[in-house]
Amino acid sequence: MPGDRVDPDRSAVNGTTPPPRVAVIGANGHGRWHRRVIAPLHAAGRLRLVALVDVRPVEDDPAAPVPPGVAVFTDHRAMLAATRPEVVVICTPPHTHLAIARDALATGADLLLEKPPVLSLAEHEELTWALTAAGRVAQVGFQALGSAALTALTDALAAGRLGTVTGISTIAAWQRPDAYYARSPWAGRRSVDGRPVLDGALANPLAHAVMQCLAIAEALAGATPWPVAIEVERYRVRPIEVEDTAVLRVRFRAGPPVLVAVTLAAEEFVAGEVVVTGTTGQAVLEYPTDRLRLPGDVVTRRVPGRLGLLENLLAHRVDPVGVPLIAPLARTAPFTALLDALRPAPEPRLLDGELVITLGEGGERVRHLRGVVDVLRRSAERGALPSELGVPWASGAYRAELAG
Ligand SMILES: NC(=O)c1ccc[n+]([C@@H]2O[C@H](COP(=O)([O-])OP(=O)(O)OC[C@H]3O[C@@H](n4cnc5c(N)ncnc54)[C@H](O)[C@@H]3O)[C@@H](O)[C@H]2O)c1
Repeated sequence: MPGDRVDPDRSAVNGTTPPPRVAVIGANGHGRWHRRVIAPLHAAGRLRLVALVDVRPVEDDPAAPVPPGVAVFTDHRAMLAATRPEVVVICTPPHTHLAIARDALATGADLLLEKPPVLSLAEHEELTWALTAAGRVAQVGFQALGSAALTALTDALAAGRLGTVTGISTIAAWQRPDAYYARSPWAGRRSVDGRPVLDGALANPLAHAVMQCLAIAEALAGATPWPVAIEVERYRVRPIEVEDTAVLRVRFRAGPPVLVAVTLAAEEFVAGEVVVTGTTGQAVLEYPTDRLRLPGDVVTRRVPGRLGLLENLLAHRVDPVGVPLIAPLARTAPFTALLDALRPAPEPRLLDGELVITLGEGGERVRHLRGVVDVLRRSAERGALPSELGVPWASGAYRAELAG
């Protein structure tokens, strides 16, 4: 069992267990966020950061200076062989996750694997087998699942405060400048070198919006919510291969449908709201900020107490039964099922001309889709696709059934 595995040669001579050895693969980009999470845990002796890996030079981060003695590698296999970490944070591009995860598992590490963990159900199955064979675990980087506000919401649902839930929807409206798409060769790509990447708004930057809805559907069903059908409209305001704007409706074997309305081309910012509608009331969770409004609340309140994924993984390794993982790979299967269903969808419709406003220059240049937030709000409120609302720029929906 994962919790039993303290190698004798790693045990401290004085009888105490040394802190787990942790490495980060993909140390730049979002990896810097992980380094900032790790820094205080390393300083407190709760883990020992042993290595950073990146194919590019590791960038300085003032909030997470590289501690003395931490080795820096450009090749993850060389790092695994040289430092034998017990926990590996994998924060590389999505299409590299499975191969790196397999290598880390082969050397006996548990994983904190960034989302999207894998890009197909076949990969999900392969990784599940690799975890089982190695006797290790993978926590997936859906950090909003550790939110106490989400738990407060699902507790309220269980207590019947909304009556019978009839719909779950989410809206998130962000803005990403040209520099975001220029930062890495995989950004905004459907595939790289023939390998699926699927770097659309649904699969990547706004994946948390999708996953929070799935977590609520899971809480309502008391089991994994298995999607059986999707309808989706995907749009883009740039020459990218994937969507920056999408409305996705998901139906499940049982339970209410989910409507996801998201954009990276917003003229106004909406951090990310999940709205749960029931026969006797409505609840709104702002998932990035853990702010919640339940029926009867006069104001939206912040619910503090978010559990960190790495700390939870470390605690789980010590007590696998008493401390369940927040985001085990198995919990992400419905999310990956949605990626599978989205993969064959046609290229998103390119919106341009009068519909789009361009502001700024160079890497800071942004493209706003006029009125997109209003469209997404109406979609989320009515559970409707833009074409069903009569939006002039809407295209027909792509529909797919999923294997039950
Ligand atoms: N949980 C979240 O909120 C969140 C936020 C942002 C990104 N992410 C995820 O984190 C992962 C990385 O995203 P990003 O935006 O930082 O990407 P990025 O391309 O900006 O950075 C990835 C880093 O990995 C390095 N890299 C690439 N291949 C590598 C390899 N084989 N070995 C070692 N290093 C390698 C790159 O040089 C780069 O520094 C993705 O899975 C992404 O979806 C999660």
